[in-house]
This record gives sequence, C-alpha cells and structure tokens, in this order.
Amino acid sequence: MKDFSQSASLSPQAFVNQVIGHRSGVNAFSQAKSRGFGEAPVNIALSKYWGKRETSLNLPINGSVSISLPGLGTQTELALSEGKHDQIVLNDHTLEPHAAFAQRLSRFLNLFRPTEHTIFQVDTHNTVPTAAGLASSASGYAALVLALDDLFQWQLSTDKLSLLARLGSGSACRSLYPGFAIWHRGERSDGLDSYAEAIDTTWPDLCIGLLKVDIGEKAVGSTVGMQQTVETCELYQAWPEQAENDLKSIQAAILEQDFERLGQTAEHNAMSMHATMMATWPPILYWQPESVAAMQQVWQLRQQGVAVYFTMDAGPNLKLLFLKQEKPAIMQAFGKIDVIEPFAI
Ligand code: DP6
Repeated sequence: MKDFSQSASLSPQAFVNQVIGHRSGVNAFSQAKSRGFGEAPVNIALSKYWGKRETSLNLPINGSVSISLPGLGTQTELALSEGKHDQIVLNDHTLEPHAAFAQRLSRFLNLFRPTEHTIFQVDTHNTVPTAAGLASSASGYAALVLALDDLFQWQLSTDKLSLLARLGSGSACRSLYPGFAIWHRGERSDGLDSYAEAIDTTWPDLCIGLLKVDIGEKAVGSTVGMQQTVETCELYQAWPEQAENDLKSIQAAILEQDFERLGQTAEHNAMSMHATMMATWPPILYWQPESVAAMQQVWQLRQQGVAVYFTMDAGPNLKLLFLKQEKPAIMQAFGKIDVIEPFAI
C-alpha cells in the first residue's frame, strides 16, 4: 500500500515556540494576566479531513472546507496555578486527572507551561454534547488557544492561532473563523503552512439541520479511526485526490452560491469518507439503523423535488444542508430537528 507518511522536521514544542515567538531572552509568558478567556464555534466539514501524513503535528493528507455554527461551541476560562495536576472542569464537573479528556488536554497544555511546576485551571463549557460527532473537540481546542492568547497577551494573528489549534485537534484549526473556512493541506514538513483561513463570503439562505440519532460517546474516536483507515484500507488510495477535487468544487460552489453543486459534492465526499472507514480492518461503521433511515428519507425527499443533502462526520448523526425556502418541507419531514442559519442577521 502507498505510504502517505512524512516525518516532521520540528517537534511539537519547537513548533509552538516558533509560532509564539519564544526565543532565548524573550519570554512569551511574562505578560500573563490572572485569567484568560476564549470562545469558539463548532464547525462542520463540507469536504472532510480524513488521514494524517504526520501525527505529532496533526498534518493532514488532504485539505478541507467547513462551515461554523454560531451559538454552538465552547467557552473556556484559564488561570495559572501551582500543583501536581491541571484542574479541569468540564460543564461544571471536575474531571479526574486520569480521565481521557483531561489527559489529552493536559498533554496539549504541556506545550504552554511557563515553568514545569505550573498547572492550569481550566473551566470549559460545551454547548454541544461532548464526543457526539458534533465536533466539540474542534471548538474546544480553538477556544483553549484563544484563552491562552488572552491569558499570556500574545495577540497572535488568526493564522497563527489556527496553527496552534491544529496541534490540539486537526479540525480545530477551522473553528477560529465564523462562516466558511478552508484548511490548506500545506506542503512543508515543519507544518507551518498547514492552517485555516476564512472564505470571505456569506450565504444568507443557507441552512444546516442537525439530525441527532445518538449523542452517546462513540466507540472509535476520529484520531484512531483515521489512523486505522490510512494503515489498513486499500480504498483509501483513491481518497486524497478525490478530497482535493471536492475541496476545489465546494470552494467554487460557495463563491458562486451554487447550492446543487455544494450539496452533491458534500454528500458524495462524506459517503466516500465513510466508505474508506468501512473498508478498514477491523471495520469502522459509525452509522446506526436510524442514520440509514434518515439518509433514505433525504433521498426520497430529493426525488420529490426537495433540494436537501446531508453530510456526516465520525458519528451516527446527520447534518442536513438546504436553503431557507425548503425549511417548511424539512421541518415537516423530520419533525424535531435543530435548524441553524449560519449567516442569518
Ligand atoms: C470526520 O479533527 O477530530 O470530523 O486531528 O485527530 O483530533 P484529530 O481529528 P479530528 O477529525 C475530524 C474528522 C471529521 C472530518 C472533519 O471534521 O474534517
């Protein structure tokens, strides 16, 4: 099988030092305030990130395009303290230091400790169910990086914040922006050209419907899922080229406000990604019977002339794409569904 791996020319710590401008004699931590705050939205990929060419820096095999959902996301407050373990509070519950969520966060925070005795007090609130396939890790790491920037008063550019968020979770680099964002794959082995930028346009009639099938913890997280896919899936060979073509097509569809093209490409891209997951060994299938029933309902609605498409991430839930004029038909067909209008004024 083709080997997609590339070795990193920087360690994660050297990468962070480069981005925040930490050199000998210049201390990036000396201006710390008593508290820092950050807030970021979740984002939904219209063309997906699936596969890493380098894992320590989260360098993707392909670029991706997303839309952020206002009002759904993470708010994080940070303070410095001293002690043995970071104190992490998630949705008003203090986490045990060995909890998987806390360990991942602390590993990331290791890159930003002013001294080895420094601990962080992290108070974070998600307005999306954690680990439900609704990308709470994306808003989480984006909010955390904004809180670090505020705490240490770095005033980094959004490109740089996007680079740092990528280290926490790849898709987080897109959550620094409202509206549409594009995450450039990048070419460099130091990862300094792999960050997201805003696609500077709005689409007032665009709607996203969140069809929740199951909001429980998923069995296979995306980090493990994509790694297993890259390592064991023959079909994955075809993915990088399709993903880059889909990215260009989605970008053009957004700029031309061509809804059919956007919907078709996004749905095809999501189904292709899920095909690579299923063709992995052992197989990964995030769908539940209700997910399949909902897909069939979408296809049936299309046959009846309703322009609706779906996309799905590493979970059983569907995200429907449609224009405002179809909202009554969608509400009637699906009943209880949250509809977000990302560009509504
Ligand atoms: C299916 O960004 O969660 O949602 O970089 O390992 O943290 P890590 O993975 P993550 O993967 C997201 C995968 C996806 C597609 C996407 O959002 O582009």
